Amino acid sequence: MAADRKHMILLFFMQPFLLPHGAKILTLCFVGGSHYLLMDEMSRLLHDSGHEVRMLLQFGDGMLPGYKMRPSPYQITTWSLDEGYLQEFREVFLQHQKDFFMGRNGLGAYLAFMGQLSHQCNITLHKSDIFNSLRDEKYDIAVIDAFNPCSFLAMEKLGIPFIAFFPGMFANAAQIGIPSPLSYVPVFQSQLTDHMDFWGRVKNTFMYFASHIVERKVQATFEDVIKEHFPVGSRPCLSDLYLKAELWIYNTDFAFDFARPLLPHVQYIGGLLAKPAKPVSQELEDFISQSGEAGFIVVTLGSMIPSLTLIEVLKEMNAGFAKVPQKVIWRYQISQWPRELELAPNVKIMDWLSQNDLLGHPKVRLLVTHGGMNSLMEAIYHGVPVVAIPLFGDQFDNMVRIKAKKMGTFIPPEQLKAEILATTIRKITDDKSYKISAMNLRVIQRSRPFPPGRQFVRWVEHIIQAGGGHHLHPYSLQQPWYQQYLLDVILFLSVCLIVTGYSILKVLRFVVGNLCSSGKQKQN
Ligand SMILES: *[C@@H]1O[C@H](CO)[C@@H](O)[C@H](O)[C@H]1NC(C)=O
Repeated sequence: MAADRKHMILLFFMQPFLLPHGAKILTLCFVGGSHYLLMDEMSRLLHDSGHEVRMLLQFGDGMLPGYKMRPSPYQITTWSLDEGYLQEFREVFLQHQKDFFMGRNGLGAYLAFMGQLSHQCNITLHKSDIFNSLRDEKYDIAVIDAFNPCSFLAMEKLGIPFIAFFPGMFANAAQIGIPSPLSYVPVFQSQLTDHMDFWGRVKNTFMYFASHIVERKVQATFEDVIKEHFPVGSRPCLSDLYLKAELWIYNTDFAFDFARPLLPHVQYIGGLLAKPAKPVSQELEDFISQSGEAGFIVVTLGSMIPSLTLIEVLKEMNAGFAKVPQKVIWRYQISQWPRELELAPNVKIMDWLSQNDLLGHPKVRLLVTHGGMNSLMEAIYHGVPVVAIPLFGDQFDNMVRIKAKKMGTFIPPEQLKAEILATTIRKITDDKSYKISAMNLRVIQRSRPFPPGRQFVRWVEHIIQAGGGHHLHPYSLQQPWYQQYLLDVILFLSVCLIVTGYSILKVLRFVVGNLCSSGKQKQN
């Protein structure tokens, strides 16, 4: 009895440490689209776990054309960027979209996009009233979108400990000090798998060095912003800020990615948006029921691409869908559909659709996608094969993984023709092995020890309770490179070896010389 009581008292005192209810958490969302959907989900999860959450949101509308923002239970601080600039930003994005469909997704477009983020960063960091009030709030921790370097600068300005959430798989392993053996860990943008032949490894090594140059160029786009917002003497360097994150979380999963080494402060928590499906609307159900055994296909090209600017591409896709036996449900802004083009009879277009619910429908046969991480995680969660038209960023590398795991394939955008699209869809839907692989990956993903939402909340709470993530950071993160790769030790040992070898040689020579000369003397 007494022991019981003691136990209860102990538990009572430990309670606040076990469950940090009411921690104050700031979430940062400086990129719209799918990044917003993820940050919104994480903010909700933390709020639902009893924490006080505020989101710092750069785009009030989430940059999601056609999407109705759900009323948020957590607090939001937002501001508006100048309408003229926003118009320009949208136009730049539309121009990029055209380039992507013509197969031009080079470094130039990426750096131009980073330039836009840097411009927005300057405006955001100038909101001193917002920053001052946030500073007064004394947040326990922040969760930031690590894709945008501006998030790190905002953290440096606020001085809050933070968790970096990266909305895709590794694009920056080298920058955050994660061991990435080039012999089997493909570098971002290499489009290689973990099974590399000799030339694959040559390419990977080359891409590794190239990735450092790209990273330097990305960081250079933020140089002026850093100069403007931080006084001489306390100007941060982005590379150092990346190492300051208490924890790194990546929106990926080993059901999807190739097995590779990680560090304790790096967690894979993918698929936060994949959930059990809710029933779809009666209108959609009626449409789907007309498909009979053939079932239906879901088509979405990413939250930020609600319609196509290239009419030729649109025509090819429409004609391709007309040739398949399935019904097609396509997220396409109805008002943007050209009047002169007749929609294929088996196709239904919608301004927005709940992809997750449709992928969970028993009659779904395929997802046609741009290959964004959230879409692929939902496809894996529901065990649906994929055909992708990857456009930019991580989408090609994502699809290399889906293809390697035999869950689908992809068509490079510049090769997109009606016939190719239709044959590819038929191939993936007729060959049952794709469905089987998708179902196997589904089992791998769903049988993880904890569902991603729970894992995410527990990790954030752990970092708060532990007073940071220092216990997870290996010393290698602070070690000079020559120590980390043991170059000093190798140098020392080599010198020892050479000196010893040289001394032995000297002694031997001396001994042999003496023996010889004494032998000569005897003979004499
Ligand atoms: C940042 O914005 C301010 C005020 O709008 C402007 O004067 C300045 O030139 C901008 N700096 C950079 C680096 O873009």
